[in-house]
Amino acid sequence: MSRSAYRFINACERQAVDTIPVWFMRQAGRYMAEYRAIRKKFSLLEICYQPELAAEVTMQPVRALGVDAAILFADILLPAIPLGVGLEFAKGEGPILSNPVRSMKDVQNLRPVDPNVDLKYVMDAIRILREELKESRVPLIGFCGAPFTVASYIIEGGSSREFLKTKQLMASEPRTFHALMDVLSGVLCDYLLAQIDAGAQAVQVFDSWVGTLSPADYRVFAQPYSARVLGAARARGVPVIHFGTGTATLLKDMKNAGGSVIGLDWRTPITLGRSLLGDDVAIQGNLDPAYLFAPLPVLRTKVQEVLDDNAGKPGFIFNLGHGILQHTPVENVKAVVEMVHQAGV
Ligand code: CP3
Repeated sequence: MSRSAYRFINACERQAVDTIPVWFMRQAGRYMAEYRAIRKKFSLLEICYQPELAAEVTMQPVRALGVDAAILFADILLPAIPLGVGLEFAKGEGPILSNPVRSMKDVQNLRPVDPNVDLKYVMDAIRILREELKESRVPLIGFCGAPFTVASYIIEGGSSREFLKTKQLMASEPRTFHALMDVLSGVLCDYLLAQIDAGAQAVQVFDSWVGTLSPADYRVFAQPYSARVLGAARARGVPVIHFGTGTATLLKDMKNAGGSVIGLDWRTPITLGRSLLGDDVAIQGNLDPAYLFAPLPVLRTKVQEVLDDNAGKPGFIFNLGHGILQHTPVENVKAVVEMVHQAGV
């Protein structure tokens, strides 16, 4: 693999870097005043639907923080809209999907999705962003949810703690569950490939809630479908980040599903992650986002602990263990970028 002009891409491909690259999951969002100003006038979905606005919001953290990658502003649940499941974000309640899928008939009623038509606004935002980022050293990351995590929202009808309806469907109607996963993995695969074709230079697959599964259930109900999405994206030659939380017991199976980078949350030390995963995959993570609220000296110690845990190994991207929290002080986020860059490799 030849070296890229991008620090982030080189780290993903386990190539040498001048300093460790850093970006943050959910780096665009309500903790930034610039984002809140736009959100006063437009809903989350309105921002997504207007490519110029989505591109602007994507660029806000790039300008304010000096991060090494931009992540497209969108949401993992957008494909639910053309599928016919419905999607609203109610104030303070998170996502609501009003036609949840709970039977074979519901699966059969899902509508076919052409991402270049039904999610064209996402591709348009990518094209605008590539143009805007043309002269910069900042690549653009596209993303989608992994089939399991998206299925959990589509079955539950919203966010969940116990994932009981999801697990009930797995246990009592496995054929229905597999049929849903088959549809979703096809749609998510097409969606991610369309993003790459539109110009995304790396992609992240968010399996945010997969840690709710046992390894045995993961292998049967999630892994084959994740593998389809991850493998197709990797075959296009871009870095593929495979992220989940609560995954300590799933890491080997997640690696087998695919991805050139595995994202770790803060519950799994990088040393442990590497010992389970081996050295032929890059690692991304894993500062606890709550530490962004700590006094700077504490934050500095915690950032250094993450770097020390990686012990200078190639193939490392600094990130949080999950997304930035709502009231995070922007200056602390900026300070972390400086700390990581100053620390070198
Ligand atoms: O990272 C970025 O800056 C890019 C944008 C992005 C959003 N959602 C915008 C958003 C990304 C990468 C996502 C992914 C996403 N969406 C995930 C996976 C990542 C993770 O956190 O595990 C999940 C599970 C979702 C589903 C989702 N979207 C939920 C549960 C919520 C409500 C939670 C909340 O904080 O209210 C959303 C809304 C959402 N998506 C916001 C943003 C910035 C909230 C802000 C707003 O309403 O303006």
